[in-house]
Amino acid sequence: SRKHVVNIVEVGARDGLQNEKGAIIPVETKVELINRLARAGVTNLEAGSFVSPKWVPQMGGTAEVLKGIDHLPGVHYSVLVPNQRGLDDLFALLDTQPTLTDEISIFTAATDAFNQANLNCTTAESLKKLIPVAQAAQDRGLRVRGYVSVVIACPYSGRVDYKRVREVAKELLDMGCYEVSLGDTVGKGRPHEVAEMLEEVKRDVRVEKLAGHFHDTYGTAVANVLTALEHGVRTIDSSVGGLGGCPYSPGATGNVATEDVLYALLGSKYQVAGSNGGTIGLEDIVDIGWWISEKLGRQSASRVGKPIRKK
Ligand code: HMG
Ligand code: MG
Repeated sequence: SRKHVVNIVEVGARDGLQNEKGAIIPVETKVELINRLARAGVTNLEAGSFVSPKWVPQMGGTAEVLKGIDHLPGVHYSVLVPNQRGLDDLFALLDTQPTLTDEISIFTAATDAFNQANLNCTTAESLKKLIPVAQAAQDRGLRVRGYVSVVIACPYSGRVDYKRVREVAKELLDMGCYEVSLGDTVGKGRPHEVAEMLEEVKRDVRVEKLAGHFHDTYGTAVANVLTALEHGVRTIDSSVGGLGGCPYSPGATGNVATEDVLYALLGSKYQVAGSNGGTIGLEDIVDIGWWISEKLGRQSASRVGKPIRKK
């Protein structure tokens, strides 16, 4: 029977590294990480952020990262842009090297409390500021992806009203986002909550426009990925080695590990798309997960990374 094609957005070089405490990760390490991921078959990846380095020091140097990486054909190397200032900085770079990226991600959240912490404004204010950013990016020929954070629980205001998730996702699509990624930023969502949230969002938004972004703090992320797939979502954000966390989501750990998603879907009715023999190489991703984790002074946080490496 025909398989359902699943797209992976590899966020390890952005979500994965943005929260690292301690020494600033060198540009060369980020460049090598991204090059390895693309060679392993990843075709959608986040290369960094044009955010304030005072707010998120590890994402300083994203311009140098974009200049340093190999740009493989068919691979989207996207960057997070929080505001007009970030877009201006990106455009200044693209003025001299127009092919460095073809995609930005803009981000907001389902609660005012999270947006205050992450973007220093309310949800309504953030949406208002993002409209001209999304427009200018599209006018320049860039694809725009949107994020809604804290779709299940908010670290500051608790339980989230799924109606707000639906409204915010709809607004991001209305301003031209080709896709909206729904983030369980805290990583404590349970499969039945993901299902309820998606059912609410799908009342107003076609499921083809949605992606799932699950942090794995409570160990439910793979189950949440499967739940999202069963509800028709076909794009999943994941992070090599399970790296990551949001600096404004205290205690939250990394995204679902890319290795763990690949492993869970092997042989199923879902086929992960990629450029390594039509998919993404599981063993390659396991190796990259260990390589980057050891660079950061720890073991790979991926569950399947441990037994597969031992083989
Ligand atoms: P603000 O302080 O309100 O901004 O922060 P401002 O406009 O008042 O500017 C303050 C200073 O920052 C000024 O510099 C600006 O020039 C500078 P100063 O005059 O003090 O020297 N500035 C910038 N510098 C570089 N790049 C910029 C930029 N903008 C202003 N783009 C701001 C507002 C949006 C800048 C700040 O709140 C910010 O950078 N926030 C980003 C937070 C962030 O990156 N969070 C992590 C990503 S989101 C995430 O991880 C969730 C996700 O994974 C999904 C999920 O899991 O849910 C996507
Ligand atoms: Mg995240």
